Amino acid sequence: MEMITRPRRLRSSENLRRMVRETRMDPSSLMYPMFVMEGTDKVEEISSMPGQYRYTVDRMEEKLYRLADAGVGSVMLFGIPNDKDEVGSGAYAENGIVQQALQKAKQAVPNLFYVSDVCMCEYTSHGHCGILHGHDVDNDKTLDYLAKIAVSQVQAGSDMVAPSDMMDGRVAAIREGLDRNGYTNTPIMSYAVKYASAFYGPFRDAADSAPAFGDRKTYQMDYHNSREGIKEALLDVEEGADIIMVKPAMSFLDMVARVREVVDVPVATYSVSGEYAMVKAAAANGWIDEERIICEMAVSAYRAGTNIYETYFAEEVARFMKEGRIG
Ligand code: PBG
Repeated sequence: MEMITRPRRLRSSENLRRMVRETRMDPSSLMYPMFVMEGTDKVEEISSMPGQYRYTVDRMEEKLYRLADAGVGSVMLFGIPNDKDEVGSGAYAENGIVQQALQKAKQAVPNLFYVSDVCMCEYTSHGHCGILHGHDVDNDKTLDYLAKIAVSQVQAGSDMVAPSDMMDGRVAAIREGLDRNGYTNTPIMSYAVKYASAFYGPFRDAADSAPAFGDRKTYQMDYHNSREGIKEALLDVEEGADIIMVKPAMSFLDMVARVREVVDVPVATYSVSGEYAMVKAAAANGWIDEERIICEMAVSAYRAGTNIYETYFAEEVARFMKEGRIG
């Protein structure tokens, strides 16, 4: 059989396979989403996300140390306030839950990079990501609040803000707010390509943030669309986004690849709560090999072109990278 090119040649040993790997990763590019709640001395497991917890501020440290130890680069903080109101005032309160968590985390484990999610849905009584006008979210009114939230998070110590609300013009509004307050060097990671997705289900349990009526389809994107995602990504870069995120990850890797091609800023993708829950449920039933699935999900996100990978499995993925199992 005459055959000059035999792809199998480069697969013939573990050493060789490692040598020719196309996708190289480093734990410093991993981001871990973490939930903080009010109160003291409590760590509560999230029922739809076994192995993930809500921490009170005084109990965050144990997890932060483990993440830093594993080499994970960054943590994104989500706050779960006790009290919610129409305008989500807990999101920009000086002593709000995320503000407290940022102060504590920065002081306790300063070698991690802290990102704060800028959104209102965990803080509003109606569970929508903005200020309501009747049953609709008032885009332009919401912008002032988002800028206020971002500024208050940075004042509390946030290293980078990540707006996830999907209002039009919010990157520009947040940039202006930060600059006006002297935070010209604080980057914005925009959830630019965020789809209205059932994959967020377990998160909404965790953060108690499901909308009280309707859904998020008037602000989050329709998952039939990809050109629209490119439009969103380019718009946000123009408005000053420093990093562009695609979310969810697993069912949207086509968008990670497309966005990676059209923007010149780093690209992030967020493997969301539903992705985590599916892996955990199937693994608990003995239907899949959890560790191998985690590896494939992570590598496929990087292979699609992501530069930053946000995942509830960050600690595990960091370990697999260090062990040389992947990366
Ligand atoms: C806030 C926000 C959500 C998620 C991240 N930021 C929920 C939503 O948009 O409904 C979801 C993350 C996850 O599912 O892990 N808007």
